[in-house]
Amino acid sequence: MAKIKAGVLGATGAVGQRFIEGLSDHPWFELTSLAASSRSAGKKYCDAARWRLETEMPKDLGDMTVVNVDPSEVDADVVFSALPSDEAQRVEAEFAAAGFVVASNAAANRMKPDIPLMIPECNKEHLDAIKKQQENRGWDGYIVTNPNCTTIMFTLSLKPLMKFGIESVHIASMQAVSGAGYEGVPSMAILGNIIPYIGGEEEKVETEPQKILGTFDGEKIVSADFSVSASCHRVPVMDGHTEAIWVTMRDDPSPAEVREAFLKFDPGLGDLPTEPKKPLIVRDEPDRPQPRLDRNAGRGMAISVGRIRSGIRYICMGHNTVRGAAGASILNAELLHQKGLL
Ligand SMILES: NC(=O)c1ccc[n+]([C@@H]2O[C@H](COP(=O)([O-])OP(=O)(O)OC[C@H]3O[C@@H](n4cnc5c(N)ncnc54)[C@H](OP(=O)(O)O)[C@@H]3O)[C@@H](O)[C@H]2O)c1
Repeated sequence: MAKIKAGVLGATGAVGQRFIEGLSDHPWFELTSLAASSRSAGKKYCDAARWRLETEMPKDLGDMTVVNVDPSEVDADVVFSALPSDEAQRVEAEFAAAGFVVASNAAANRMKPDIPLMIPECNKEHLDAIKKQQENRGWDGYIVTNPNCTTIMFTLSLKPLMKFGIESVHIASMQAVSGAGYEGVPSMAILGNIIPYIGGEEEKVETEPQKILGTFDGEKIVSADFSVSASCHRVPVMDGHTEAIWVTMRDDPSPAEVREAFLKFDPGLGDLPTEPKKPLIVRDEPDRPQPRLDRNAGRGMAISVGRIRSGIRYICMGHNTVRGAAGASILNAELLHQKGLL
C-alpha cells in the first residue's frame, strides 16, 4: 500500500518535533513536507530546528529543506498543525480551502461547532460534522482538532463514567513545564516552585470536555450538559500532567463501580497503529499514578488513573506532549484513514 503523504506545519517547534518523531517510521504516513516560519524556510531541517528530544533526529529528515507555511509550497495529503494559535486560525483555513486535510493541535479552531474536537476513543461519531463543515465553508479539505493537553487526560477518563450521569467535574491540574514549549517557563521561575497560573488554560479545560462528550445533531456539535471547574498549576516536572479530579454523578456510583467502568472501557477502535492496547490503565497502588513512572504507559498514549475514592475522587495522568499533543493528532489522522476520509 502506498503511504499517505504527510506534512508538518510548525515542524521546528516543540510539538512539531514530536510529530516528526511519531511520523518518521509510521506504517501509514510518509513525511513529505516540513514547514515553518520564514526564519526557517529555505534551510535544511537540521540547521533550522534545535532538536530537543531524547531520540535522534531522523537523518533523512534532517536533510530536507524547510518550506514556508503556504499551501502552494507544501506537498502532502494531510498536514499536522503545530502552529501558534494566532497563526493557526488563518493558516489552517487556507490549507482546508486548498483541499488539504488538517489535523490540528492548536486551540484556534477547537470550539467551532462544525469542526470536530476529537478523542478517537470518545467521539468518533463527530466525524460526521466534516461534511457539514465543508458545506458551510465551501472547502474541499477540512479541519479536525485535538484537545488541550490537560483536557484530553481527564476527558478520556470521564467517557466510561457518562453512563452514571455526570453532573459536575472539579479538577486541579499539576502541569509539566514541557507543556509551555522549550522557551516557555524560565528555569529560575519554576525550580523549587509552583506557579498557580497558566494563561488561558482554565477556560479551555472548562469548555472542551463538554464538546467532546456532546453529540452531533446533524448541523452542529452540541455540548454535553455538565459543568467543569478548573484550577491549573505549573509544577517542576519535565513531562506528564497529573490531575486531581472530583466528579458528581446522578447515580452516585461507588468507587468499586467506577474502577470497574475504567477497567472495562473498550472503545473498539479496531487496531489503529498508535492506539494504546488499553486507553485507561488502573493503578491500584496507593501512591500511583506518578509522572516519572507512568507517563510512558502505552508508548505515551495511555492515561493512568488511581486513588479512586468515594466522592468520586481520583487522580489521572498522561504524557502531555505525546497523548496531549502530537500523538493525539496522529491518532486522529489514523482514524480518518480507517474511515476512508483521507
Ligand atoms: N507544547 C505542548 O506541550 C503543547 C501541547 C498542546 C498544544 N500545544 C500547541 O501546539 C502549538 C505549537 O506549540 P509549540 O510548543 O510546539 O510551539 P513552538 O515550540 O514555539 O513552535 C512553533 C512553531 O511554529 C512556527 N511558527 C511560529 N510563528 C510562525 C509564523 N508566523 N508563521 C509560520 N510558522 C510559524 C515556528 O517556526 P520557526 O522555528 O521558524 O519560528 C515553529 O515551527 C501551539 O498552538 C500550542 O498551544 C502545545
